[in-house]
Amino acid sequence: MEKETFFNYLKPWSKRKHRILGKYLKPFAAKVATITQNREIFCIDGFAGAAKYDDGSVGSPLMLAQLSDECSKWQNPVTLKLINIEPNNKNFSSLEYITQDWINKGTVKNFNEKFIDAIPHILSEIRNAPAFFFVDPFGPTAVHFSHLQPILQRTQQATELFINFDTDGLQRIADASQSKSDNPKTVKSIPKNTQNVSDIIGSDEWIQTYQNKNLTTEQRQNFLLSIYINNLRKFGYAVVAYPIREALEKAAKYHMIYCTRHNDGVILMNDFMFEEENSLEEEHSTMHFPLFASSASKKNVAKNCIF
Ligand SMILES: C[S@@+](CC[C@H](N)C(=O)[O-])C[C@H]1O[C@@H](n2cnc3c(N)ncnc32)[C@H](O)[C@@H]1O
Repeated sequence: MEKETFFNYLKPWSKRKHRILGKYLKPFAAKVATITQNREIFCIDGFAGAAKYDDGSVGSPLMLAQLSDECSKWQNPVTLKLINIEPNNKNFSSLEYITQDWINKGTVKNFNEKFIDAIPHILSEIRNAPAFFFVDPFGPTAVHFSHLQPILQRTQQATELFINFDTDGLQRIADASQSKSDNPKTVKSIPKNTQNVSDIIGSDEWIQTYQNKNLTTEQRQNFLLSIYINNLRKFGYAVVAYPIREALEKAAKYHMIYCTRHNDGVILMNDFMFEEENSLEEEHSTMHFPLFASSASKKNVAKNCIF
């Protein structure tokens, strides 16, 4: 099962997620610090994990801690304070061990509890400071829309979220809620699955369309994703979704959903997502046209391949 083996090694698609996050946070920190009096901003890693993978790769809390060191050495330094949430005791021990130096410096605080339980503690810790929330759960069920509401409703305009949204996992739950099976176990789980989907995306408007329309898997996923995005937008955020894939021609593992109240954020994030898309295309052309790797333009790849 993926949860047990997740920290064995850093998957190539997780690297994409980390790359986008790491690239974005630098200009975010530099820009947002200018609207503060003390140049202090927060980054909350709501599903932090062990901070290091068994293969030695850097996990998100360590990546963020290293980034906070970098920010502190800029010509106009920024104090990037980090709050990590991790309820699993084994992962938490590793997180504490790996981030010990930053805990001692006062840069990092780790909370050994579930995200939902940690939210009041996070909000009282960060008060009205600018904050970026990285929400990176396993699967779709750990984060209900209502959990995010106190964050979405912050009066601090420099509040941003980067959410791992398991579109494929969610569509499977939604499909299960529509099952026509007579199996008593399946029948019993239907209301729970229906409620689960509504709780996750923040409304039940998906049910009717799901029941009535003959949609393809991709259309069902896009439909659920679009309702989630619309519900986030109701809180005054511009929202962008990027599919994280292992390779160009592969289906999305999940979407990274970025929420901001500033147009500059969308422009910046768009650039980093575009760079990731370019690197996917380059990897693809290197794999498929090794002899012409340096000269195979994206146009040629698109013309010559059937995806
Ligand atoms: C996908 S992993 C995080 C990976 C990490 N963000 C990284 O990029 O290196 C998800 C983590 O969330 C933790 N977790 C599980 N349920 C949680 C919950 N309800 N609240 C917060 N964390 C949870 C798991 O123990 C696991 O370490």
